[in-house]
Amino acid sequence: MTDLTSIKDHVILVAGGASGIGYEIAKYLVSVGAIVVATDKNAEGLASLDKEVQSKNLHTKVVDFLNDQDIADLIQYIEVEIGPLKGVINCVGILGQRGILSEEIDMENFDLVYKVNLRSALVLSIEAIKVMKPRKYGRILQLASISGKEGNPGLVAYSVTKAGMIAMVKSQGKEYAESGITINALAPALIATPMVASFTEEQRNFLKDKIPMNRIGDPIEVATLAAWIVSPACSFTTGFAFDLTGGRATY
Ligand SMILES: NC(=O)c1ccc[n+]([C@@H]2O[C@H](COP(=O)([O-])OP(=O)(O)OC[C@H]3O[C@@H](n4cnc5c(N)ncnc54)[C@H](O)[C@@H]3O)[C@@H](O)[C@H]2O)c1
Repeated sequence: MTDLTSIKDHVILVAGGASGIGYEIAKYLVSVGAIVVATDKNAEGLASLDKEVQSKNLHTKVVDFLNDQDIADLIQYIEVEIGPLKGVINCVGILGQRGILSEEIDMENFDLVYKVNLRSALVLSIEAIKVMKPRKYGRILQLASISGKEGNPGLVAYSVTKAGMIAMVKSQGKEYAESGITINALAPALIATPMVASFTEEQRNFLKDKIPMNRIGDPIEVATLAAWIVSPACSFTTGFAFDLTGGRATY
């Protein structure tokens, strides 16, 4: 019987692959036989990934997701140079200002968080859909957050963009439901990455205490679920925000 969970030789773009969750996902996908294109604005992080993975199945490309055209060019580069794009996992994200009340928000920072976390995710999905649609197959997965489902104090800009991302995949999932492309989000609670290392001890404990399993998640726990969501096996779920919160969210 065909192993529908196999993504061997599938070309999969991992955006935000230079650090944390994206780095782990890129590593894991290569280990299960996928052809991975890891992209990020952080060239150093991509070079470390390359050095660690050492595989002809890993390609890296420096791209700043603040530039729409560069995102479009990235998709074209993959199609021409690597092969037909089957999956996209978008892990690009920033926290922006944290630990502040709404009245202290710097609107320029809000705009930056919006552009990096949500606008670029929309542009990326549009460019991926364009090339996937004629082939009637594709998997798009956006890294959202529990913040987008429940909100987190002191993180309004971040939470708003993650809620927007969840609404985006719900809308797009319905738009493209009959296209062969599934469009989902993954909403983790706290995962041990450099992003979380930037929290204060107090902020980290506040968020950890909300997790019934009483621990922080490991990036590999994101990678294994993400690999399944972008596999042919995950064919009857679209427009959904998968939970990964150690029991914090039950929806
Ligand atoms: N770590 C967590 O606890 C957690 C929880 C829920 C959701 N998430 C989400 O998962 C994703 C990955 O988070 P992480 O913890 O691995 O963070 P991280 O900071 O380790 O990785 C984020 C990556 O995005 C890249 N990036 C930022 N701005 C960019 C830009 N303009 N262009 C291209 N790349 C850019 C960074 O260089 C970095 O490599 C993010 O979307 C984050 O919001 C993380």
